[in-house]
Amino acid sequence: MALRLAVLASGRGSNLQAILDAIAAGTLDAEVVGVFSDKPGAPALGRVPAPLRWSRQAKDYADRARFDTELAEAVAASRPDWIVCAGYMRILDEAFVRRFRGRLLNIHPSLLPLYPGLHTHQRALAAGDAEHGATVHFVTEDLDGGPAIVQARVAVLPGDTPETLAARVLEREHLIYPLAARLYAEGRLCLRGDQATLDGTPLPAHGMPLDA
Ligand code: GRF
Repeated sequence: MALRLAVLASGRGSNLQAILDAIAAGTLDAEVVGVFSDKPGAPALGRVPAPLRWSRQAKDYADRARFDTELAEAVAASRPDWIVCAGYMRILDEAFVRRFRGRLLNIHPSLLPLYPGLHTHQRALAAGDAEHGATVHFVTEDLDGGPAIVQARVAVLPGDTPETLAARVLEREHLIYPLAARLYAEGRLCLRGDQATLDGTPLPAHGMPLDA
């Protein structure tokens, strides 16, 4: 049976599109059952038919807990197997993370554990790193700190700006998110406690390298 994916997105949704493209190409046996956003104008929402869209503005809620409870209820109502954060720019509260732990994923544009948080491309350039990249990881209570599943590396090139580097990393993001979803759809991926496993074997701290 096709994997039911709920996608959380705040922005343009190119990672969502990469997942939709993999489904359309038949390389990912999945179905996007809802796209959920904290930004009613997010372009990501337009990538799926209207009945699959959910959006609310955080400013209409008294606090984070109320917003995240309503989000969690809407996500749960779509009966997802997996919840995929694809450029979702709000921190999820602990109750949300606990409710979906083991089924909640994020993609982060850095070689985690390097550069959790924002401005990752700029920070990699400022540090003079030779390599940069992106990581798909399970979401745990530790922001951008959950166990890695797949990691893709790109070389930092002379003359790179945050924008050129981000564009090269994004190409890789579009490969590793559908790949991680496929591993899960095939029943090969699991979170046990704080350890991600592939085929029952613990994954290394940086996750599976893209080209493995
Ligand atoms: C990506 O770089 C992702 O890693 C980060 O936010 C960006 C979202 O891009 N979390 P998109 O909305 O998927 O195009």
